[in-house]
Amino acid sequence: MKELSYILANKTPKSKIRELFNLASGRSDIISLGIGQPDFKTPYPIIQGNIRALEKNITQYAPTRGNPELLQLLEEKVKRDNNIEVDWNKNIIISNGGSQALTLTFASIFNIGDELILFSPNFISYFYLGYFFGVTVKEIKRKQDFSPDFENLRKIISKKTKAILINSPNNPTGYVFTSKEIKNLIDIVLEFDLYLISDEVYENYIYDEAEHISPASFKDLLERTITINAMSKLYSATGFRLGYVVANEKIIDLMEKYHQYTVAGTNHAAQFGFIEGLKMNKDFFKDIIHNFKERRDFSYKRLKKMGFGVVKPRGAFYIMPSVEEFQITGQEFSERIIKEKGVAIVPGDVFGSFSNNTLRISYATDISLLEEAMNRIEDFTQEL
Ligand SMILES: Cc1ncc(COP(=O)(O)O)c(C=O)c1O
Repeated sequence: MKELSYILANKTPKSKIRELFNLASGRSDIISLGIGQPDFKTPYPIIQGNIRALEKNITQYAPTRGNPELLQLLEEKVKRDNNIEVDWNKNIIISNGGSQALTLTFASIFNIGDELILFSPNFISYFYLGYFFGVTVKEIKRKQDFSPDFENLRKIISKKTKAILINSPNNPTGYVFTSKEIKNLIDIVLEFDLYLISDEVYENYIYDEAEHISPASFKDLLERTITINAMSKLYSATGFRLGYVVANEKIIDLMEKYHQYTVAGTNHAAQFGFIEGLKMNKDFFKDIIHNFKERRDFSYKRLKKMGFGVVKPRGAFYIMPSVEEFQITGQEFSERIIKEKGVAIVPGDVFGSFSNNTLRISYATDISLLEEAMNRIEDFTQEL
């Protein structure tokens, strides 16, 4: 038989996160701190919107870019919440989740051999999309507190560099860019004539005095910024598989072409659920974010007390402790704690080259389970 895809067969490992969950399968005692999705129920109006659409037999292809009412509501949302001046007819396309928004981005701006720069650790998919599209992904190690290192960024930019990618609030570190950092970044993007990819899927998960700032809200930045977002995290609706991209008209046109020949569009009836979500008063999220902040504070306090090196995250729902104190790698820690104590935790090394000695803990779990998990982690570290 002839060789199968070299990149998929040889360069792309199976998801280590999935492997971890295979280890846990069949065990009812496992507490998972590995989940990348919130634990509250999708608000009912969204579910109703989807059901009503199906009852009306909305089962045909959707318009390739998305339902016009949905695009118009997103125009309003993006103007109101992100301060980005867009026209729904030109600047927005609906995607299959934030994941496919990323695929559309890689497909529409990169050529083989281009370079993409990101701060590491960072979300796993960026690395593999790089492989799939022949893009060299260059990592810049984050500073100790996970903030971006602009000095090294400047040094690493080459003629082949086409874009910088940021994800703020960040998976896996929970880091949120400050407005000064966004401005610094924009200066560099303009100076070197680059594109900026801004993955904002966690924009609503913000704590303390942190603030979410969309780079595309700055003057002339919509031209060169691709903003990625999704309904997945805000509405706890990862299974709806709906996201969107905001970008300049030319880029959205290219994305539409790619859409036409790869997925033809997104789930039509589900878009009516998203429409209802956008019509909802955002107050529904107040209690939820309050709850997540409590979990964040609790996780931080417990981990710090146990002796982990830990930075207090200001966004998303992840915390990334260092296991260096315990003279063990993140990989060993993760493999052993699931077997010995029944806690599923993702090792940090899946998020890039500079996080071997870390873990990624998701605190999107009920506080009582979180407490039990922390007790088990404490037992485990005491036995090390
Ligand atoms: C940073 C980041 N971007 C994009 C995605 C993908 O989002 P979606 O589930 O909407 O495809 C995720 C999912 O965990 C993520 O963490």
